[in-house]
Amino acid sequence: MALYRLIYVSQAVSGLEYPDLVEILDKSERNNRKVGITGMLGFGDSMFLQVLEGSRRVVSQTYNRILLDKRHVNAELIDFSEIECRDFGVWSMKVVQLGNQVEVRDLVLKYSSSDTFSPIAMTGKQSLHFLRELTELYQRGAMSNN
Ligand SMILES: Cc1cc2nc3c(=O)[nH]c(=O)nc-3n(C[C@H](O)[C@H](O)[C@H](O)COP(=O)(O)O)c2cc1C
Repeated sequence: MALYRLIYVSQAVSGLEYPDLVEILDKSERNNRKVGITGMLGFGDSMFLQVLEGSRRVVSQTYNRILLDKRHVNAELIDFSEIECRDFGVWSMKVVQLGNQVEVRDLVLKYSSSDTFSPIAMTGKQSLHFLRELTELYQRGAMSNN
């Protein structure tokens, strides 16, 4: 069956806190595993950048559900493409909080005009490369705490 990738960006509502992220992650892992979705959710500077991979039907259904969620607003679709294979197959979902780590700032700068995380200004390709490299960083355990 054909595989699809969807990437979108959205803005967290004010007052969104760490427990909300944990709840989103728990739900996402459980639901996505059931339907064969994999992906990643980056969160920084009150912005979400999420990639979902799976069949066209389940990616569409999941995205439609996510859009109704009151914990974020102003979602913008960045990419929806047919893909050969998954890039984020290790995770049914993973939330990565983008803080001030030097590795993250370097990566943001690599794909943006400044080192401030602003996924809304990224092209589809830039956001995909950014998320791929972020995954690699994370898997290597190469993110420091400062
Ligand atoms: C930024 C963001 C990302 C989300 N990502 C997912 C996801 O990947 N999969 C998912 O099932 N729900 C995701 N959710 C949660 C859904 O909006 C919704 O609350 C959930 O799917 C409802 O699940 P339930 O019907 O099992 O209660 C996300 C919510 C937000 C705010």
